[in-house]
Amino acid sequence: MIQKIKNLFLGSLLLVGFSVFAQQQTPVYMDDAQSIEKRVEDALSRMTLEEKVKMVHAQSKFSSPGVPRLGIPENWMTDGPHGIRAEVLWDEWNQAGWTNDHCTAFPALTCLAASWNPDMAALYGQVIGEEARYRNKNVLLGPGVNIYRTPLNGRNFEYMGEDPYLASRMVVPYVQGVQKNGVAACVKHFALNNQETDRHGVNVIVDDRTLYEMYLPAFKAAVVEGKAWAIMGAYNRYKNQWCCQNEYLLNDILRGEWKFDGVVVSDWGGVNNTEQAIYHGLDMEFGTWTDGLSEGKSSAYDNYYLADPFLALLQSGKVPQEEMDKKIRNILRLTFRTTMDRNRPFGSFITPEHRLAARQIAEEGIVLLKNDRNVLPLDLTKTKKIAVIGENAIKMMTIGGGSSSLKAQYEISPLDGIRKGIGSAAQVEYARGYVGPKTARQDGLAASDISDDRSPEALIAEACHVARDADYVIFIGGLNKHEGQDCEGADRKELGLPYGQDQVISALAKVNKNVVVVILSGNAVAMPWVNEVPAIVETWYLGSEAGNALARVLTGDVNPSGKLPFTFPVKLTDTGAHSLGDFPGNNHEQTYREGLFVGYRWNDKNKVKPLFAFGHGLSYTQFAYGKAAVSSKSLASGGPLTVTIPVKNTGSRTGKEIVQLYIGDEKSSLVRPIKELKAFQKIALAPGEEKTVTFTISEEDLKFFDDTRHEWIAEPGKFTVYLGASSADIRSTVDFELK
Ligand code: BGC
Repeated sequence: MIQKIKNLFLGSLLLVGFSVFAQQQTPVYMDDAQSIEKRVEDALSRMTLEEKVKMVHAQSKFSSPGVPRLGIPENWMTDGPHGIRAEVLWDEWNQAGWTNDHCTAFPALTCLAASWNPDMAALYGQVIGEEARYRNKNVLLGPGVNIYRTPLNGRNFEYMGEDPYLASRMVVPYVQGVQKNGVAACVKHFALNNQETDRHGVNVIVDDRTLYEMYLPAFKAAVVEGKAWAIMGAYNRYKNQWCCQNEYLLNDILRGEWKFDGVVVSDWGGVNNTEQAIYHGLDMEFGTWTDGLSEGKSSAYDNYYLADPFLALLQSGKVPQEEMDKKIRNILRLTFRTTMDRNRPFGSFITPEHRLAARQIAEEGIVLLKNDRNVLPLDLTKTKKIAVIGENAIKMMTIGGGSSSLKAQYEISPLDGIRKGIGSAAQVEYARGYVGPKTARQDGLAASDISDDRSPEALIAEACHVARDADYVIFIGGLNKHEGQDCEGADRKELGLPYGQDQVISALAKVNKNVVVVILSGNAVAMPWVNEVPAIVETWYLGSEAGNALARVLTGDVNPSGKLPFTFPVKLTDTGAHSLGDFPGNNHEQTYREGLFVGYRWNDKNKVKPLFAFGHGLSYTQFAYGKAAVSSKSLASGGPLTVTIPVKNTGSRTGKEIVQLYIGDEKSSLVRPIKELKAFQKIALAPGEEKTVTFTISEEDLKFFDDTRHEWIAEPGKFTVYLGASSADIRSTVDFELK
């Protein structure tokens, strides 16, 4: 009893910041880095070995223990990255059945990346952080920044596209926004998790240059600039070591080169070996399916690699205490930054502000791919009937897809959004057009039943009947969150649209000249009918506000301003990985032979014309680019140099343009892409308005990673600056020299 009282007393002292014991000069309530370090050391010195061992591995599906005796709270994780996952049972993936865990579903990260608007990323981080905090989670398992290497990756929808610079600029404000709430962003999946096929076994073989230039920058930005407090190791292997216990990635790069001081969390079931998990930089083990009899059963937690086996090694003296203490320091730092930060806000959940944020992000990310004859926006003054065709007009997309599946408070379907948006202005008639798999169930959550047993012929006949006399036909299809589409755990099998949609679209185009194709996907899809329809819109997965955002774009209430964060190839073999036959690898090995030539870098090098280029996206207005100018013809070592370009809205609507700046190095000792994105700005212009967009270029922007020297270098010589509306639509160039 006396011991218990002592423990309680100690615990409350910890909570107020060890003021009595530490006798520090700094005010007790200041959570600056220095005082956090003092508190970390103090707490560490009070913990028993057993308490420490408990802290480094899970106690339930999503939590790990604190130290109740010292008043140190548990850590609670949540997926991520598009909304706060519903509560599951203690040791099962199935729903806990709470009635107060319906979240706001935010757009998928591909949509956020397509906004090319760092302010939207900051807003996204802020609101999802508020929802996480309200639900008492201190680690958000997201965002994901694995590079889009192939359009078949089932998880591309959770990531930020093919370009390391764009992903870097978008991830930093997201991380900062989340962490303002006293919630850690856990950036995932570090690293090279670019496919789902054989994700637990595949060993990625990639040269250092490609690793540093393509696959690491977004993680580095999240850590070094965003100051992420957590990072999640990937399932796959690199240099024959699993990434969650990878000496090179975690010790050398993350902690050594980037000075990361947060926690490394394993992916769920990503740990495979005790020794490596101890020595190679991992701090917290989650989701391990323990072997043999206990596999997948509750109370298996003591069998985790970092549980009893770790304890035994420490007790026998085979592993020094310091190895454990390093991990505990990182975890305690997380605690003091989150659950024990006395200034952290309380968060908020499913508020009108969050709905508005979800809609704004969705509206900024929708991409108008094609708009011949200015078919869009819908002209409601002349419209009597609109035909809406396609399963994705009525299918719930917040459920499914794997760990990012959500129990949303509500989800406005495209059809409902369009009906509401059109109101009484015209009649809206719906036909199914095609039918996909029955229901997407995920962890016991079911989407509404939209099964339909009719034959493809009957469905097409009905769709054409409805479409024939309509003023507009809006076909709403694409992929979905079922396995084999945009879904964790498997990759897509083909670039083409599933369920015979190509036939439906072609049939509709034959009976109506105003077909607008709306694609819901997190990936590029083939479009054999691209020349048969006048308008195409890529609308991603938009979350709770999906239908409202789409309707506002279709009707012109919102002028579309998103641009593609990845290339749409005409065919699969127009992509580096597939052209070289390098996907999905053999015998658990996957070599990235295309090297740096991912996405538009591949198209540029091989002069392959994309279906829609990286950075492409239209508006309901037009923008004219003037001539680019450079402040000086040479960049003296240290720079910087200024590039300007006038951009004018020559149309009749207010709109936003994303002005992109790419740089190419004329000659270099190592082969480089023709050009690479180095800056962009999203600017709003009223009709007739012109703005001069100014970019600053420094020597940093000219560097490549020299893997023999293991450093970033810029070589003197001529560089070309390409300014344009997409990677394939360059409007002006200027040259300068690096002295
Ligand atoms: C996924 C992670 C996710 C974790 C927890 C894993 O299967 O790869 O992204 O955060 O599960 O749900």
